[in-house]
Amino acid sequence: MATNKLILGDCLNVLQSIPDKSVDLIYADPPFFSNRDFEILWGDEGEKRSFEDRFAGGIDHYISWLKVRVRQMKRILKDTGAIFLHCDWHANANIRVDVLDNIFGRNNFINEIIWQKIRSSKQQASQFGNSHDTIYFYSKSAKFTFNRQFIPLDAKRLDTHYNNVEEETGRIYQLADFTQAGQGTAKKFGDKILEPPRGKHWIWTQEKIDEGMENRQIIFTSGGRPRVKRYLDESKGNNVEDIWIDIAPLNSQAKERIGYPTQKPEALLQRIIECGTDEGDVFLDPFVGGGTSVAVANKLNRKWIGIDQSVMAIKVTETRLKNRQNMLFEQPFEVLIPTYDYEKLLKLDGKEAEIQIVEAFGGIPNLKGGKDLGIDGHTQYGTPIQVKKWKKSVGRDELDKFITAIPRDDKGLFEKNKKEGQICGFLIGFDFSKDLINEVSRLGNKENIFISLKYIKDIIPYENPPKVTLTAEELEDLKYQFEAKAESETGIDFYSWDFNHDDNNFRADELMDKNGKQTKKFKEGEHKIAVRAVDKKGLDKIDKVKIKVKKND
Ligand SMILES: C[S@@+](CC[C@H](N)C(=O)[O-])C[C@H]1O[C@@H](n2cnc3c(N)ncnc32)[C@H](O)[C@@H]1O
Repeated sequence: MATNKLILGDCLNVLQSIPDKSVDLIYADPPFFSNRDFEILWGDEGEKRSFEDRFAGGIDHYISWLKVRVRQMKRILKDTGAIFLHCDWHANANIRVDVLDNIFGRNNFINEIIWQKIRSSKQQASQFGNSHDTIYFYSKSAKFTFNRQFIPLDAKRLDTHYNNVEEETGRIYQLADFTQAGQGTAKKFGDKILEPPRGKHWIWTQEKIDEGMENRQIIFTSGGRPRVKRYLDESKGNNVEDIWIDIAPLNSQAKERIGYPTQKPEALLQRIIECGTDEGDVFLDPFVGGGTSVAVANKLNRKWIGIDQSVMAIKVTETRLKNRQNMLFEQPFEVLIPTYDYEKLLKLDGKEAEIQIVEAFGGIPNLKGGKDLGIDGHTQYGTPIQVKKWKKSVGRDELDKFITAIPRDDKGLFEKNKKEGQICGFLIGFDFSKDLINEVSRLGNKENIFISLKYIKDIIPYENPPKVTLTAEELEDLKYQFEAKAESETGIDFYSWDFNHDDNNFRADELMDKNGKQTKKFKEGEHKIAVRAVDKKGLDKIDKVKIKVKKND
């Protein structure tokens, strides 16, 4: 399955197009069920639609909205896969019982993780402050990936446990008993290790002990209890348990902050992804938001898919990923939006465009270049398809050539279609001349040759991209104001800004700007500034200005 994709759309539709058992791990952070009148994250069309979709009928409606989507999530998970579903007190009880137990089964419940997301909640007069989210962890079957996670040892534990120093090496260690070493108590291995004389050392030979602890010297305490040396420099830390208070929420100054309220910290996603996947595994986030999870998955060399219904979410995630791309170790990714950019469609190489259009029409493209008799593909039944990707309308002479090519392609099928009154060929174009349309009618009426005309717009919905003009004005010494004026048929959604543009890459310094105005101070010298305007369908356009900044005398 093709991965490393950001897909704009309702995750229900997108998940439906993903094959069974193809994903290793899902992290789902759906919009919460809350009683607020309106939860504004992005403030765009996709979000409003989704809000109305979920909240019209209260909690039952929300649960059934989620259920159909989680069913798809289970279907696409491999048998060894798992899901982490992030929610909060508004609906967690219902989600656990009605959605997860119901779909994944009670037996596949692994953990209820409590993440303390707020350090000091607001003072409440009549209830305890609410400071946590719940993350449910369910597997698809009894066999699933679980990589143990560790947190650094805390100071108290360091003090009470690691209080021995090995004389010869100076290494700090603790004398750990075998319960900690994962082998049960001393009695259980009695038949493998003989009781040593007091104060003598035995060598530990038992298998399946913690990594790095094999063949380690056993020390017997004065009471005769076996102990093993655990060195501090080897310690990975403590095992992570199901209450996560070590991962701080994002504060307003955090470097990774992109500026919307439900953004999750990368450390949280790193723990989840490292626990549930290995390098090269496939990770999917159906509510990708600002792209925290896919940014982490990308960094950890996992394959990934991110889906969101909001244009702003997808475009912000795209820019976030591009901002990080290191030219040497770039993991390429694709952004799929349902609306095609008309200008890009016109610029597509002829053969590539034909293939894309024939496939989108549901046909089988003719992959060989050169002499194809003007036939660019066939339907499943063998009927010829011809594509004319021309800005001007397709004329009568092109139809004549097509009519000559059809019987040459398959005479038997042509005669059969004619006889049965079936379509003999499909002609696809942006527009068709009047002459051609008249001739198509005549052919059908008089000669029983039925040609079907198809408009590209009905096959690949496209729109003109926005137009944008950027101007710069010096306000005072070293300080400039920039204004982006943009127009779009669907309306402008937002702008992003790159104040240090290098022509090859747009790396945003300001990701989400609704107004298209920015003020900034510069150092002396030449600077290139770029703005990207994104419209409500997700199409975008960049404009740039160059400024020469000089201190006034
Ligand atoms: C809680 S936020 C996710 C935040 C994300 N985990 C992050 O760290 O940035 C929920 C997201 O779900 C998206 N959403 C809502 N309904 C959706 C749907 N039906 N399909 C796909 N995305 C949807 C919203 O646009 C929003 O970006």
